Amino acid sequence: MKIHQAEFVISNSDPAKCPKPDRPEYAFIGRSNVGKSSLINRLVQRDLAKTSGKPGKTQLINHFSINSGKLTPKGETAWYLVDLPGYGYAKVPKNVRDQFAGMISTYLTGRENLRCIFVLIDMRIPPQQIDLDFITRLGEERLPFVLVFTKAEKLKSGARSTALEIYHAAVAQIFDTFPTYFITSATTGEGRDEILAYLDDMNKA
Ligand code: GTP
Ligand code: MG
Repeated sequence: MKIHQAEFVISNSDPAKCPKPDRPEYAFIGRSNVGKSSLINRLVQRDLAKTSGKPGKTQLINHFSINSGKLTPKGETAWYLVDLPGYGYAKVPKNVRDQFAGMISTYLTGRENLRCIFVLIDMRIPPQQIDLDFITRLGEERLPFVLVFTKAEKLKSGARSTALEIYHAAVAQIFDTFPTYFITSATTGEGRDEILAYLDDMNKA
């Protein structure tokens, strides 16, 4: 899929104020600083989402409209990409269940056009309980999600395989099958084509 158009629509803390749910939507979530906003920018090839070296940059639900412009070929669907605040940062509730009680939960469980949640995980560090708790909760809520490993350019192929094996073992404690996953780098663009192809398939589903 090509990105013909991408623009910021609205930021808000009230899921009720999100744009009309009239097209497929995909949300990016994960611990603070994992690289959600950077990966969104890499996907759309422009600086739409605000990034920062300091955790806790994204604080609101941010909607970006993709491929709704005149340049988009007939038959291609417009969709929304959503940048969410990170979890696990000291200034936001530590407990994921608290997170789930708040704005993010209301959004994730109530957004009718949300087709898939992209859970970003820093590939350089071992599985974190907060991430495992988060995907457990997604499973309990029957919310569709995929895993996106970030900052992969920092790891050589041996270290990547080891990291994946460790994640497989950790996730096997929660789910019978390992979820669909992507290995990405916002720095090099690795994984971009694969994610866009996946989004294209889901748009058509
Ligand atoms: P919050 O909005 O605070 O939750 O953070 P975020 O998940 O949106 O992370 P953001 O995209 O702001 O990036 C956080 C830091 O990670 C920044 O310093 C980025 O430059 C860095 N970063 C993001 N993606 C990559 C990557 O692929 N490789 C490397 N090496 N650094 C990255
Ligand atoms: Mg962010």
